[in-house]
Amino acid sequence: MERNLGSVLRFLLRAGVGLWVGLGLGFWATHAHTVTLRLAGESGVGAGADFLDARVQEWSRRSGHRVESIQMPNSSSERLALYQQYWASASPQIDLYLIDVIWPGVASPHLLDLTPHVTDDELAAYEPRLLEANRVGTKLVALPLWSDVGLLYARRDLLEKYGFERAPETWEELTSWAAIIQDGERESDAAFHGFVWQGARYEGLTCNALEWFASFGAGTLVAPDHSVDLHADRAAAAVAMARGWVGGISPRGVTAHMEEEARQIWQGGHAAFLRSWPYVYALSQALESRVRERFLVAPLPRGPDGRSAATLGGAQLAVSAYSEHPDVAVALLKFLAGNEVARARALELGQPPAFTALYEDTEVMEVNPHFAAVARAMHGIVVRPSVAAGPRYNEVSNAVYTSIHAALTGTLQPDEAMRRMSARLRRVLGRR
Ligand code: GLC
Repeated sequence: MERNLGSVLRFLLRAGVGLWVGLGLGFWATHAHTVTLRLAGESGVGAGADFLDARVQEWSRRSGHRVESIQMPNSSSERLALYQQYWASASPQIDLYLIDVIWPGVASPHLLDLTPHVTDDELAAYEPRLLEANRVGTKLVALPLWSDVGLLYARRDLLEKYGFERAPETWEELTSWAAIIQDGERESDAAFHGFVWQGARYEGLTCNALEWFASFGAGTLVAPDHSVDLHADRAAAAVAMARGWVGGISPRGVTAHMEEEARQIWQGGHAAFLRSWPYVYALSQALESRVRERFLVAPLPRGPDGRSAATLGGAQLAVSAYSEHPDVAVALLKFLAGNEVARARALELGQPPAFTALYEDTEVMEVNPHFAAVARAMHGIVVRPSVAAGPRYNEVSNAVYTSIHAALTGTLQPDEAMRRMSARLRRVLGRR
């Protein structure tokens, strides 16, 4: 009996230990590898943040990992300044960064090389130029999420009302037509403006200015040999044109507008023309939009050089070199930058995908008639000099938007602003 009791006890003990070990192992299997990733994601521009949150939650449910996505400032320049603080301290606090198309050079030392994590087949599906923009030396630093190009949004109903049969094709036409429409519309809407765009002192102004410069034949700012490429007289003429808009066909406050301020004026029905990115299309077509079914999308007007130019923008996703969970972070990156999410992004947000095959997807193309204007604008694409300027790109852009902003607000004459910009560019590039 005693022996029996002993063996029963031994059995129970073993079983008990086994049970606890078993439970412990099960818990470990499901939870020990559950990590929390932090994603420096979308800003408040458009509806991107809600879209990204929904996709991140979907991935969390599938993978069992937690993700905190942190909303970033609307200004691309402020976002970079924030990232640089994390990078300066090699911080593991952020695992994934949504980066601007112009940052691979600046960000590369702080990003994981994705080359060992992706197959050739996975890469082959991306539009080659967009993918290659993410290669720094031999390192693949990010995967593209979407591409942006500068576009002209025009009120079709107002063009018709004032007897114009098409969108303006030159800056001269835009300037005079906007003034005529503004004069007429002001009778019933004191807050109506001819033309809204991004004139605040930040990266977006560099994007607008590069389009003016290219269409005036004023150069690309930085030549491949790192010298300054600027035709100062033409650049000053382009800036003088924009200076003339401020307080005329554009609100005085345009010098404080970024993407969303301009879009709100446009979408509220208070502007004839808007310069912005493709994301505005889907929002303008939303049920609550005042311009729904009343506008068209076209390439930006040509300048005296006879050229219509569109700045290339866009975003990509990267994994931090300082992440403590690089493999899990790469899994999330591949999901968010993958075909399924890119397709949903195109359908819900109207953002041009980086996957070549999606341009042959009937549903994607039907929902996004503005992709035709995107394709036309691509012929005049101008690329910010982020490759030529390398890690100094941000200083280059800062020199550009600061000088131009001074001219737009009347602090400097356009020619003086361009002289100072050119001198600053020479200093920045000379230090490379
Ligand atoms: C958009 C573009 C980006 C650009 C920014 C400027 O987000 O995608 O490339 O730098 O606008 O505001």
